[in-house]
Amino acid sequence: MDVGIIGGTGPLGRGLATRFAVAGLDVRLGSRDPERAGKVVADIAAMCANPDCKLTGVSNMDAAAAEIVFITTPWDGAVSTVKPLAGELAGKPVVSTLNALVKTGKEFLPMLGPRGSMAGLVAAALPQSMVVAAGHHLPASVLCDIPATLQADVLLCSDHPTAKKAVCDLLRQIEGIRCLDAGSLAQSGALEAFTAVLINVNMRYGGEATVAISGLDR
Ligand SMILES: NC(=O)c1ccc[n+]([C@@H]2O[C@H](COP(=O)([O-])OP(=O)(O)OC[C@H]3O[C@@H](n4cnc5c(N)ncnc54)[C@H](OP(=O)(O)O)[C@@H]3O)[C@@H](O)[C@H]2O)c1
Repeated sequence: MDVGIIGGTGPLGRGLATRFAVAGLDVRLGSRDPERAGKVVADIAAMCANPDCKLTGVSNMDAAAAEIVFITTPWDGAVSTVKPLAGELAGKPVVSTLNALVKTGKEFLPMLGPRGSMAGLVAAALPQSMVVAAGHHLPASVLCDIPATLQADVLLCSDHPTAKKAVCDLLRQIEGIRCLDAGSLAQSGALEAFTAVLINVNMRYGGEATVAISGLDR
């Protein structure tokens, strides 16, 4: 299984790449500048200290050729980035981690666009892809820090059950992640908006909290 990360040179892309590589998956870390991607990959590989770390720094186009592709660009660059890659991304799971947030005074607020979520906008831009919204609440700094223990529930939503299962199976390979099916893509606005709440809590109490749902049978 290979995983592509579009916009992979930022904190979340690096963090996911690190954890997927540690799990032994092939990772294509994408960038607008493949040279920059190559440097990031070299940094991760040095940290990884695992000869099985299979990471490649590539263009976003090459990242889009992977079997499952994550979008980890800033929210306002996402649609213009993925639209030209629609052909490469057709027929496969594409994961939107995007949170459209704005800082107003001391707090972050969600901006729910015309389709109610960034995942909805991505799905509209990529009608041939199976868009899954997931990973909004994962703390990039913890993902990047290999020895750090991660304990996170990832809530996923999509209109494509097979894609949701494929992404769930993939994310579960990262130690400490439990995946929970949160419904159809119509739920993605709620997931994205909750990120603003989580960031505000983290800023208030100082931490890297993520989501952990209690009360479920495991
Ligand atoms: N950071 C977190 O903890 C976290 C957690 C969960 C979800 N998220 C979501 O994940 C996404 C990425 O967050 P991040 O903090 O990792 O991102 P970021 O550092 O702001 O951006 C990631 C990468 O995207 C590329 N990029 C920058 N501007 C772009 C543009 N206008 N168009 C296309 N590509 C552009 C850059 O790579 P190149 O210059 O190399 O192309 C950059 O390194 C966000 O939408 C965020 O809401 C973040």
